[in-house]
Amino acid sequence: MKILVVGGGGREHAITWKLAQSANPVELFAAPGNPGMARHATCVDIKADDLDGIARFAVAEGIGLVSVGPEVPLCLGLADRLRGAGVPVFGPDARAAAIEGSKRFAKELMRKYRIPTAAFDAFSRFEDARDYARSLDGDMWIKASGLAAGKGAVYAPDPVEAERILREIMVESVFGESGSEVVIEENMTGEEASIFAVCDGETFKTLVSSQDHKRALDGDEGPNTGGMGAYAPAPLITSDLLARIEKEILQPTLDGMAMEGRPYRGLLYAGIMVTPDGPRVVEYNCRFGDPETQAVLPLLDGDLADIMYASAVGKIHNVRVGAKDGSALCVVMASGGYPGSYGKGYPITGLEDALRDDTVQVFHAGTEMRDGQVVTASGRVLGVTAWGKSFMEAREHAYGAVKKIIFKDAFCRSDIGHRALKHYVQKTRGA
Ligand code: AMP
Ligand code: GLY
Repeated sequence: MKILVVGGGGREHAITWKLAQSANPVELFAAPGNPGMARHATCVDIKADDLDGIARFAVAEGIGLVSVGPEVPLCLGLADRLRGAGVPVFGPDARAAAIEGSKRFAKELMRKYRIPTAAFDAFSRFEDARDYARSLDGDMWIKASGLAAGKGAVYAPDPVEAERILREIMVESVFGESGSEVVIEENMTGEEASIFAVCDGETFKTLVSSQDHKRALDGDEGPNTGGMGAYAPAPLITSDLLARIEKEILQPTLDGMAMEGRPYRGLLYAGIMVTPDGPRVVEYNCRFGDPETQAVLPLLDGDLADIMYASAVGKIHNVRVGAKDGSALCVVMASGGYPGSYGKGYPITGLEDALRDDTVQVFHAGTEMRDGQVVTASGRVLGVTAWGKSFMEAREHAYGAVKKIIFKDAFCRSDIGHRALKHYVQKTRGA
């Protein structure tokens, strides 16, 4: 079967790498892909949000399955377009992708189907939003309802600050159209985890839990980024807690989406806050998380091509979605200056050396080829991932590989997995 992976970041490299291990004879394509993905797939020069170009290519090439990585093409209706042309797709259609594309829709869904989440209200007029913020005593989160590349959620410690943020989003339109509606919600406390469920419209199976590290610097300091590293599983998510998340959150979400006439196929990502009152949804995403996928897929015991195909056109219960023992950890190597401005085009050396460890994969996130040399091309450059029998082993190998890779101004966090580390150290001491 011919499979097309849409996207060109670390997440899509991890998906392509895992698809390449399928027991089925698969021929892989990527649009647009990257130099890492080119090891497993034929990269075609079509942008991920070029819906016409992708649909045309898929039909002409006889693609049997398309796996869509990023949210933008899904929210724009890429899956609808492909399904309309008879091409099976791993990913929701636009009406179901609204679970990420409209925070207002997602929050109203949760309210209607009693799915635990932060209390909220949604507004499309600045004056109404401001009055509501003023009526709240304490802190709150203000979110642009539409897609904002992960930057649309802002914490407001008090109503004065809230008014300033609301003005920026709703009047000055710093997030463009995405901020024409806002959600204002209560601040929740607790630890976060990412839960991925592969869904077939009615039912789902979960993958191992994971945790992202959004801040740029060690100790969760510095500005927010697209994610500086991840590990899986998250020890916070015990089997009891996962069972609760499945029963109280995932199944009601799928049932609610079906009731709304928006059956959900593809990957549902639930960002969960484990609060003192139990698990609650922070947000949903309509696709795999980045960089969590780089840590989750190495632990998937199952054939990703079969899983995606079952999600696209069949029943997820007919395929095996198992979890390997052990842990995986991904350290993002970024360009100095990221998430602010940074230089590009710097040669990357040591990649082959790092890959000599067979428990290591270096997922390309922002690289390109220039005169036969891999060079940096974006803020997040590589996701250096390792796995092992234990969390400690995975961490040691990942950071061992990071040391071998060199490019100008490279930086990474040195404390990826610090919460898990604390957990395992306490467990060892307690034992
Ligand atoms: P979102 O864009 O909705 O995923 O929010 C981005 C990040 O902001 C989340 O991963 C949380 O760390 C934080 N956040 C968002 N909403 C809340 C909330 N209601 N309470 C606490 N933290 C939140
Ligand atoms: N890791 C966060 C995201 O993919 O949205």
